[in-house]
Amino acid sequence: MTIEGTYRTAIGQDRSHVIHPFSHLATTDITPDDMYVGGAGCYLEDARGNRLFDANAGLWCVNVGYGRDEMVEAIREQAARMSYGQIFARNANLPSAELAARIAAKAPRGMNRVFFGTGGSIANETAIRTAHHYFRLQGRDSKRFVLSVDQSYHGSTYLAASLTFSGNYHETFHVVEVVRSIASPYPYRAPEGLEGDRFLDYLVDDLERTITRLGADNIACFILEPVLGAGGVIIPPEGYHARVVEVCHANDIFVIADEVVTGFGRLGHFMAAEPVFGMQADLITLGKGISSGYQPLSATLVSDRIHEVISASGDPESIYAHGFTHSGHPVCCAAGLANIDIMEREDVCGHVTRVGTRFQARLRDLQGSSLVGEVRGMGFMAAVELVADRTTKAVFPAEVGISGRVETHCRDQGLIVRPLRQHVILSPPLIMTAEEGDWVAGVIERSLDRVESDLRSEGLL
Ligand SMILES: Cc1ncc(COP(=O)(O)O)c(C=O)c1O
Repeated sequence: MTIEGTYRTAIGQDRSHVIHPFSHLATTDITPDDMYVGGAGCYLEDARGNRLFDANAGLWCVNVGYGRDEMVEAIREQAARMSYGQIFARNANLPSAELAARIAAKAPRGMNRVFFGTGGSIANETAIRTAHHYFRLQGRDSKRFVLSVDQSYHGSTYLAASLTFSGNYHETFHVVEVVRSIASPYPYRAPEGLEGDRFLDYLVDDLERTITRLGADNIACFILEPVLGAGGVIIPPEGYHARVVEVCHANDIFVIADEVVTGFGRLGHFMAAEPVFGMQADLITLGKGISSGYQPLSATLVSDRIHEVISASGDPESIYAHGFTHSGHPVCCAAGLANIDIMEREDVCGHVTRVGTRFQARLRDLQGSSLVGEVRGMGFMAAVELVADRTTKAVFPAEVGISGRVETHCRDQGLIVRPLRQHVILSPPLIMTAEEGDWVAGVIERSLDRVESDLRSEGLL
């Protein structure tokens, strides 16, 4: 039987039964190109037998690469010893205790408490519920609003999705009432005439005005990705993080650093908000790379100051009524421990810092293409923003499917990239070598050339 024949049944089953996340359900009939059947290191294998370099690391998550024996063995060993162990109330298990301690040891000073979940959305929900719980215990129940910035992505549960101000999120589902957005710290698309420090002032003003309008007594927290990932790898202007933290803290508003993407090495640090951006958060959320995608795992770090209040009283009214069946799941936490072991032993953070500099420099060469408005990124995350006109920064109409065209040409050369609106997103496994990074950039360069010539022959340029 051909390789394709082997997988024909599964492809049929998928078409008949699987609802694919974030898809147009009318047009998601998958083909053998879309069915992945194996993975090793930075590579995936599809149902046609093609080996493809995965420059997305799945969804920003397969940080130590696919198919690592050490990860597999840690998971197997824990599943054999104790396959499940809940941690509600006074139940505990060994892997979750050890993992909490190891994560706390990597966190900024004064952040020693860890709540485990199974995904980034849940980690963010946890951070917000914890902030609400804190203020309620302090008799300040009115502090409920949650602020977030345009172009951010915080997840897909109701509250996390409501905080997500990108794409057509808010047109397709309802929005939870307690969220408000402020201007995006997106320098490339700063309003006309607001360059440099003036843009920074404008952003901080917008935050201050929003606080005045809603009333600080009504706002619990502000959530921010240190680098906005799915929004297009947007790096806020220098000084932004520290200034928004200062404004929030002056108004007794907690700051949540959503490090679901930026954490666990992608920017060369286990947590990047404070060391890279001077962003002193009260709560930090982690997911994705925390287990390199081997098991569903996330963590919400809670500051000692918050923990002191939420743990002060034993009366029934102050119970921390929050938790999930799989919180602190021992097999997931065992994967988390093995992932940290690998990252430490192989100095993955140091590797990202070293190779990331060259990778980013090589990607900047793509700015020579007439289709590229901006290339931006840090460490092992980057975006190529595609435009129809470099002077006006106008984007192509959605029907052109500009980033999808680049994706197709990349794939033809054995490279998986992620098209997101007018962006080509890159978040390779953190074990990618410098030479592989050069190759990735070269493939994208050739793909851009091909797209340009396709557009010309179709009369679209
Ligand atoms: C910054 C950020 N936060 C939260 C999430 C949500 O994580 P999950 O899909 O694991 O719920 C994502 C997912 O892409 C993300 O990019």
